[in-house]
Amino acid sequence: PKQPILIQGPMPIEAEYFAGLLKDVRVEHTGNFDFYIGTLNDYPIVVAKTSKGVENTAAATAIAIERYNPRAIINQGTSGGHDKDLNVGDIVLGKRSFNAGNFKTPKLAEGEGSHPMNWIPMDVMASEGSAGEGDAAADAEKVRYYAGNKDLLASAHAVKETHKRGKVVEGTIASANFWNNEIDRMNWLHENYGTSVEEMETASAAMMAEAYKVPFLGIRILSNNLTNGGKYDPSTAEDNQKFVKNVVLHYISTL
Ligand code: 5AD
Repeated sequence: PKQPILIQGPMPIEAEYFAGLLKDVRVEHTGNFDFYIGTLNDYPIVVAKTSKGVENTAAATAIAIERYNPRAIINQGTSGGHDKDLNVGDIVLGKRSFNAGNFKTPKLAEGEGSHPMNWIPMDVMASEGSAGEGDAAADAEKVRYYAGNKDLLASAHAVKETHKRGKVVEGTIASANFWNNEIDRMNWLHENYGTSVEEMETASAAMMAEAYKVPFLGIRILSNNLTNGGKYDPSTAEDNQKFVKNVVLHYISTL
């Protein structure tokens, strides 16, 4: 039997439209996750409704890899813009993603406050040693970016024109359990780490995909962009799934 393509979405509005496209669906529920197992154009697909955030997403990814042995994984959903040139309805293809909650703070004494713009990136996978103190600590002071898979990116580019609501561009996805409303913080992430958008899942799925050597891509539509006044619009979630459907159909045609 063919290995399925795994399509992940955190919230009901980010997963259920795609699940509704499948034929002969069987649902498996475990933990905080729903897996919709079916076919699209006779090709096996698993849609995972993962719930929000990095813990849920990492667990849902590892469980799906162990249970369904996917050929490839797409993590998709909504996001908030860090780039003034990106508007609500535009789509970012994750050329790279990283966990934007992994930081080490410089040492400051009691009473010296907390200064997030001075925080140092931290790579928890740099070594098996401590990321905080000791011989291994200095090596951990860097960002770990996860690269999007070339073939999945190529399929996304091939169907770019099907997305009419906005443009489709490559970019950097920043993931963490955070919702920033401080524009200076967003600008800091944009200037220092090249972030295009922020959300709460892609990098944690990417980390598991890399660990298990499964081709991976994050595809994120902007549902909001405070940096240019773009108001939150949840209808973007369905438009992203429509685009991802076209990416998947193209990718399948290349296999
Ligand atoms: N910041 C953080 N997460 C966002 N999401 C959409 N916009 C943002 C934003 N500006 C996504 C997250 C999460 C849910 C809250 O929506 O990925 O799943």
